[in-house]
Amino acid sequence: MKIGIMTGGGDAPGLNGIVEAASRVLIKNNIEVCGILDGFEGIFSRRTKNVTWDSVLGMHSVAGTFLGTSNKSKIAGRAEEFQKSYQALGLDGLIAAGGDGTFKALKELAPNLPLIGVPKTIDNDLQGTDITFGYDTACTVVADAVDALRATANAHHRVMVIETMGRTAGWIALGGGLASYADAILIPERPFSREKLAQFLKDAHDGGKLGMVVVVSEAAKAVGENAIFNENKHSPTGIRFGGIGENLARWIEESTPWEARHVVLGHLQRARPPTTTDRFLTASMGAKAASLVLKKEWNRAVVYRNGLVIDAPLSDLQGEPRTVQPDHRWVKLCESLGIFI
Ligand code: F6P
Repeated sequence: MKIGIMTGGGDAPGLNGIVEAASRVLIKNNIEVCGILDGFEGIFSRRTKNVTWDSVLGMHSVAGTFLGTSNKSKIAGRAEEFQKSYQALGLDGLIAAGGDGTFKALKELAPNLPLIGVPKTIDNDLQGTDITFGYDTACTVVADAVDALRATANAHHRVMVIETMGRTAGWIALGGGLASYADAILIPERPFSREKLAQFLKDAHDGGKLGMVVVVSEAAKAVGENAIFNENKHSPTGIRFGGIGENLARWIEESTPWEARHVVLGHLQRARPPTTTDRFLTASMGAKAASLVLKKEWNRAVVYRNGLVIDAPLSDLQGEPRTVQPDHRWVKLCESLGIFI
C-alpha cells in the first residue's frame, strides 16, 4: 500500500507532528508513505518526497511543515487533472491535515478519494472538533507577549495594545489574554463599547495603575462599526484583517489620559515549535489517522471531543467557522476576574 500525506492551508505548529506520528505507524506496518509537497500543488505537479523512518524522526518538535503548504491553490475546474495526477502517483489513499478550505476543495476535486482528514488551524475555529492543534502554541505566544509587554507598559506608564490573529473568531485573543490576565480582551463576537472601554482605562489611570495591556483580535470591532480589513488578491478569502491595534492605540491617546503603543503579533503566532499540549494532540491525532488507514475506514476525520481523540464523518469539518459564544464560560471567567471584555 502507498499512502499520500499532505498539509494544506496556512501552517500551524504541530503539522510536522501529525506527519511524524502517522508515518511512524504506517511505516511500522510496512506501508509506503509519500509526502506531497506544497499542498494541492504537489498533487497537480506530482512533486513528492519519500517519507522514511529516518527522515521523519524528531520532526514533531519543529515549527512549520517540512512538506510545505499553500493556501491559495486554484482548484476550480481542475477535478479531472487532479484525479489523473493522483492516479499517476500510484496512491491508495490520502491523509490530509488542513482547514475548512482544504476539505471543501478535496470534496470538489475528488469526491470519491479514499481520504482521512485531520483538522488544523491556530484559529481554533473549525466545526466538529473541540480544539485544533496549533491553538495552544498560538495562545502561548500571546500570553508571553502580554507578560513581556506588561513590563514596558508599567515602566513607561502606557497602554500596550496587542493585535492577534484569528479571523472572525476570537479564540486566540481570548485564550492567550485570559492565560496572561490581560487587562482587556476584545473579540469579534462581542463588539465593544468605546465609551465603556475609555471609562475603564480612565478609572484604572486615576486609580494609580502603572500600565495596562489590551489584547485585541484582528477582526474585533466597536459597537456600530465594521472590522478593519483590506481587500487583497493573494488572500484565500479576498480580504485580510488588520489595523485595529493601531486604531485603538491612537484612539486611546485621544480619549484617555494614557499614552499608548501597539504591537501586531502576526505570523509569530504560527512560527513557534509546538507546545507539549500540541505535541500530545498531534501524536494522538496522527496515530489515529494512520489506524483508520490500516482499517481502511475512509472518509473520516480525526477530531478531539470531550477529552478524547476519535473519528467522525469528514463532513463534520465543513461547516461555518466555530466562533466564541458571547456568553462562553471563558468570557464569564474574564468578567469575574475584572478583565474588560
Ligand atoms: O487561518 C490562520 C490565520 O493565521 C488567520 O488567523 C490569519 O488571518 C491568516 O491565517 C493569515 O494568513 P496568511 O497571512 O498566511 O495569508
